[in-house]
Amino acid sequence: MSKDTNRHMPKDVGLDNTVKALREGYQFIANRRHTMQSNVFETTLLGEKTICMSGSEAAKVFYDNDKFRRADAAPSRINKTLFGQGGVQGLDGEAHHHRKAMFMNVMNTFNLAQTRALTYKYWMKEVAKWEDKEEVVLYEECKKILTQVACEWVGIPLEEEAVADTSYQLGDLFESPAAIGPTHWKGRHSRSKLEEWVEAFVNDVREGKKDVPKERPLYLFSWHRDHEGELLDEGTVAVELLNLLRPMVAISIYIAFTAQALEEYPGEADKLNDGSEDKLHRFIQEVRRFYPFFPFVPARVDKTFTWDGYEFEEGTLTLMDLYGTNHHPKEWTDPSLFKPDRFQSWDKSPFDFIPQGGGDFNIGHRCAGEWLTIEILKESLNVLVNKLDYEVPEQDLSFSMNDMPSLPKSKMIITNVQRVEEHEGRKNNQE
Ligand code: HEM
Repeated sequence: MSKDTNRHMPKDVGLDNTVKALREGYQFIANRRHTMQSNVFETTLLGEKTICMSGSEAAKVFYDNDKFRRADAAPSRINKTLFGQGGVQGLDGEAHHHRKAMFMNVMNTFNLAQTRALTYKYWMKEVAKWEDKEEVVLYEECKKILTQVACEWVGIPLEEEAVADTSYQLGDLFESPAAIGPTHWKGRHSRSKLEEWVEAFVNDVREGKKDVPKERPLYLFSWHRDHEGELLDEGTVAVELLNLLRPMVAISIYIAFTAQALEEYPGEADKLNDGSEDKLHRFIQEVRRFYPFFPFVPARVDKTFTWDGYEFEEGTLTLMDLYGTNHHPKEWTDPSLFKPDRFQSWDKSPFDFIPQGGGDFNIGHRCAGEWLTIEILKESLNVLVNKLDYEVPEQDLSFSMNDMPSLPKSKMIITNVQRVEEHEGRKNNQE
């Protein structure tokens, strides 16, 4: 059939597939893509007709701003925990473009290098406390490390006594969105506390009560003017500053998976001992491709259009499969194997490797913090491999394919942690 001819979109069986989606989690879309042999199909979730898309060709369409909008796409329970109300995620058109520039302007070379140096500084500060401990739950400790990195980088002062509680509260924001009951309510409570806390700093900056370096996001966001020349209200600035703090701390999830990968794939881990920046880079790219984090992103069809013969009707909820695209057999050779060297020949397409969204950073909704995530992960991997000696006791390192976010079940426990002298040949010291 010609691709221009309208054809019927493959349709999932069943009246409503919400329960199956919860059960199959990250693999829900890939399972159906496989059985229907189609990168696009229709299903019903929470009583609503929903189109699911997978693969790089679909991503090119999904990240076309003329075709999809975000304003009414994310469920409100996600806005009340993960994103907050009025943030960049739900904006479209000129308003989005302008707000996104506020984020991308802080992702410059100087700031990225600074984040990496801060990552090293706070790893070393915390590691010094681990040497006397019987065991360390790496995921929880990384939340504390990254809370300090994030606050210093953003320009928010944080007393030593507040580190642990702030890290738990920031953790609540990304540990709760998919949960129901008390965990979800804890997430909402932590969000309102954190917004209040950050808003007070924004007020202080605006009233001249707080001296913040002009290159810090706290200063820049507080004085940012929107596309109509207006200052953002304080609440929105707080939401956007939390859009930096929260995901920076969420990188702890990737660090736990990085440590898990070092344990599960010792052959790959051994390759990292020479401190080569390229090898560190390839390893963490594979961590981001291989392990589950965001399953998909939602959008709504903005204006009715036809793609590949299928009609996308205005207003239809559409999910772009991030996890499944990173594991798509047409995009990746042996997608279920952990092989960092695959990134040696990767062509850097913005549409096939999309753990943090795809397309263009400035124009579309692709994650504003992807480069920063890479820097923090590279330094964390470097510390784990070249700066520490530790043991991994017996524990449950498996991870669920339907918990969101997923984590090694033990949260990655390490014991007998010791700092080590410089490894010979290490090239990328950040001290
Ligand atoms: C922990 C690792 C991270 C993961 C897995 C992740 C994932 C994502 C995903 C899937 C999106 C949505 C893409 C889309 O809608 O198409 C996103 C958006 C976003 N991320 Fe991240 N992210 C991470 C870290 C970060 C960091 C470190 C920052 C900032 C410091 C950040 C800031 C943002 C912002 C501001 C957006 C909204 C962009 C927009 O709507 O235009 N993220 N991220």
